[in-house]
Amino acid sequence: MTIGTPLSASATRVMLLGSGELGKEVIIALQRLGVEVIAVDRYANAPGHQVAHRAHVIDMTNHEALMQLVKQEQPHLIVPEIEALNTQTLAEIEQQGLATVIPTVRAVQLTMNREGIRRLAAETLGLPTSPYAFAHSQQDLQQAIDAGIGYPCFIKPTMSSSGKGQSRITGPEQVAQAWDYAASAGRVNQGVVIVEGQIDFDYEITLLTVRAKDAQGQVQTYFCEPIGHLQQRGDYVESWQPQAMHPKALQRAQEIAHKVTENLGGLGLFGVELFIKDEYVWFSEVSPRPHDTGMVTMATQRLNEFELHARAILGLPVDTSLRQAGASAVIYGGVDAQGIAFDGLEQALSVADSDIRLFGKPESFERRRMGVALATAGDVEQARSKARQAAAAVKPKKI
Ligand SMILES: Nc1ncnc2c1ncn2[C@@H]1O[C@H](COP(=O)(O)OP(=O)(O)OP(=O)(O)O)[C@@H](O)[C@H]1O
Ligand SMILES: [Mg+2]
Repeated sequence: MTIGTPLSASATRVMLLGSGELGKEVIIALQRLGVEVIAVDRYANAPGHQVAHRAHVIDMTNHEALMQLVKQEQPHLIVPEIEALNTQTLAEIEQQGLATVIPTVRAVQLTMNREGIRRLAAETLGLPTSPYAFAHSQQDLQQAIDAGIGYPCFIKPTMSSSGKGQSRITGPEQVAQAWDYAASAGRVNQGVVIVEGQIDFDYEITLLTVRAKDAQGQVQTYFCEPIGHLQQRGDYVESWQPQAMHPKALQRAQEIAHKVTENLGGLGLFGVELFIKDEYVWFSEVSPRPHDTGMVTMATQRLNEFELHARAILGLPVDTSLRQAGASAVIYGGVDAQGIAFDGLEQALSVADSDIRLFGKPESFERRRMGVALATAGDVEQARSKARQAAAAVKPKKI
């Protein structure tokens, strides 16, 4: 593996499709390795735009716009950070030999649609998942619930993330509303929803799993220590690492993550979401890219998840070792406004062993993730308390 000089004929060029807070950190990691980085998003001044060599604003679901930009920028690697992409265009780009898509076009296609990844995991790979069905109408949905999914259950658009359009319902009187919400909030309104029976888990984890080359050039699978997290309304609010686990559950979690990522293939880091009860493990979903709950690794690991992704996609060796227990807590916008300011940073950073990241998003919404507080400690409970304290001290305000 060789890396050239940015902005010269020898440059190694990587294009990020989606340049939010996770893309921003991947870009910083790539920049540090001397890679030329092109950041793309659907709005101007996205977090990753602010740290890349060049920034573009396009509709990444538009075939012409995406194809034209790839031909203009000639990246060697294309790194999707979001799911709302024209994957058919990505397939054509690879077929024409224009660039390599990370980790693979097929992985990006399967994981952007809950139906694709769920059928792969449960039906092809035979992995344990929640009971599920797909419904194309409200009647379908009611029938599936009555036929065995039961209550409580989760109803989700097949194409969505961060809890958008998702509801948990406990009785038949809530079915109509859940159907309408899912059908209207899906990213590309497909008129199809997944209904999942509730798994009564003790805790849930993200198992960051890396497919990277070893010193001999062979692709190996590496695991980070499990990350525990707390979700509210389908969005993560706190994460910590390591999550203590029954040894059998950890082994089972690694086996599941290995099977799924091996099938998806390619190089890079994956966030495998799993539900755990005692020694039992259920597969939930997987991101073929760094995971929001994995931001905790900016405080805990020798190489954070973004550095691991950068190294892996470039064909470089990785080290997934944990340095210290730690936690992350999300800083929300709190207000709906453009160009907000953050008070209380002195108080936040006075918390021992804490750190913060402010993403630099041009527009704030009350429940938009604008930053994250990080902390390390002797154990996870102390780290969580410090991270929460630091996050709470940051006060976003309108200007
Ligand atoms: N079948 C289920 N049983 C129990 N809890 C569930 C189930 N499905 C979802 N949840 C809860 O809702 C959360 C969000 O669900 P899921 O990960 O499927 O949606 P998402 O929109 O992809 O969210 P994110 O983008 O934040 O990962 C899960 O992390 C879990 O806490
Ligand atoms: Mg999820």
